[in-house]
Amino acid sequence: MRKLDSKKEFSFSNPTDFSKWIKIFAKNLGNKELILLNGDLGSGKTFFMTNLLQELGQDAAVSPSFAIHNRYETKNLSVDHLDLYRLKNLEDLESTGFWDLFMQESGIIAVEWANKIDVDDFMDSWPIWEIEIQITSGQARKIIVKRFLGSKHR
Ligand SMILES: Nc1ncnc2c1ncn2[C@@H]1O[C@H](COP(=O)(O)OP(=O)(O)OP(=O)(O)O)[C@@H](O)[C@H]1O
Ligand SMILES: [Mg+2]
Repeated sequence: MRKLDSKKEFSFSNPTDFSKWIKIFAKNLGNKELILLNGDLGSGKTFFMTNLLQELGQDAAVSPSFAIHNRYETKNLSVDHLDLYRLKNLEDLESTGFWDLFMQESGIIAVEWANKIDVDDFMDSWPIWEIEIQITSGQARKIIVKRFLGSKHR
């Protein structure tokens, strides 16, 4: 079982406020991180990724649900951005090479609709940020951020 290290909540009244938070979050990332993005359609998972990639020096915006996997080589790190929205069952993932990504020594792996996979199914050596985005109203968002440490950190 993964050990929950911390749980924090933040509220933003508009995209600009959320964006500022994402930039600070990105600055503090380590060189090996798994980011699980959950939340309803249109809550801001891809918005999060676009802002994170910008902070890492990658300008290209992402077209989420069309491609299931985008890989970026930013200045210092590779970023693998996946979207599991269309995934019907976990067996379908086996053939895609998804699990092979976790053989990397370092990098950012970010997964939209990650709640289709159990947190405990991810390789233990990858520390996890689980970010749930809730639409509070219109442009307001609440996020719940959980930190699960990887095995090397325990
Ligand atoms: N505070 C906010 N934070 C983020 N996005 C916001 C906010 N307020 C409004 N928006 C808008 O909400 C939309 C979020 O879309 P986005 O594609 O990021 O959602 P998503 O969670 O990736 O959806 P999907 O499940 O379809 O992939 C954007 O159009 C964005 O402009
Ligand atoms: Mg999306």
